[in-house]
Amino acid sequence: MFDSGVGGLSVLRAFREIAPNERVIYFADTAYFPYGPRPAPEVRKRAFAVVQRLVQAGAKLIVVACNTASAAALPDLREAFGIPFVGMVPGVKPAALRSRSGRVAILATPGTLDGELFARVVDDFGRGTRISTIAGSGLAELVESGEAGTPRARQALRALLGPEVQAGADTVVLGCTHYTFLQDDIRAEFPQLSVVDTSEAVARRAVQVLDEGGLRAPPDQEGELDLIVSGERARFRAIMARLGFEPAPVEARQ
Ligand code: DGL
Repeated sequence: MFDSGVGGLSVLRAFREIAPNERVIYFADTAYFPYGPRPAPEVRKRAFAVVQRLVQAGAKLIVVACNTASAAALPDLREAFGIPFVGMVPGVKPAALRSRSGRVAILATPGTLDGELFARVVDDFGRGTRISTIAGSGLAELVESGEAGTPRARQALRALLGPEVQAGADTVVLGCTHYTFLQDDIRAEFPQLSVVDTSEAVARRAVQVLDEGGLRAPPDQEGELDLIVSGERARFRAIMARLGFEPAPVEARQ
């Protein structure tokens, strides 16, 4: 499983809940964080390097726990590596189904919003719904620096989402895994807003793909979490702990 940083931990948490006996390697590519504003070829290059490392480590399935990396690289990764992939795309379909006002805001990184994958889901599922895209400038950075739940985070969310909510949006899609950690802030600022987060659905899909491929761990296997951090390890672990993840069973290595 990988992401540019802590964002994908939202998928990891959901996955470990439903598949606790699987061995997971989580690669946080913090040396290249953030992915969001980088050109697609650069993100693709990182995604290939990270996947290469995970495959070398024996991965049987790769979860691209990052919307930006999925947008930049998912089809190419699938073609290049002979193992199954589960990627992410903003939840336009559930949002369109859920919205009563017919107006939905998609909060994601520029890389995700510019990608073909996103254009396709809007085309497939967004008809009849008014969809506004909001580039969550600075939001992933706030989460990555451990500032979820702070007045700064709330203020950033007010500035980004306020105008859309005022214009009638009743549903927001979290199109970046980092934003899952801002859910409480969003709910506090905009209690009337319905929040669509796909991390659990992606975790369920990963389990389904393992099942379909006969790849599930034996039921008596003990689950493990191994962590690879391309940037500063101590800092990552500290933020992980602040987000409620037990640092104890995690072995960090390069
Ligand atoms: N967590 C990543 C995503 O889902 C992006 C964060 C970043 O900009 O690196 O898009």
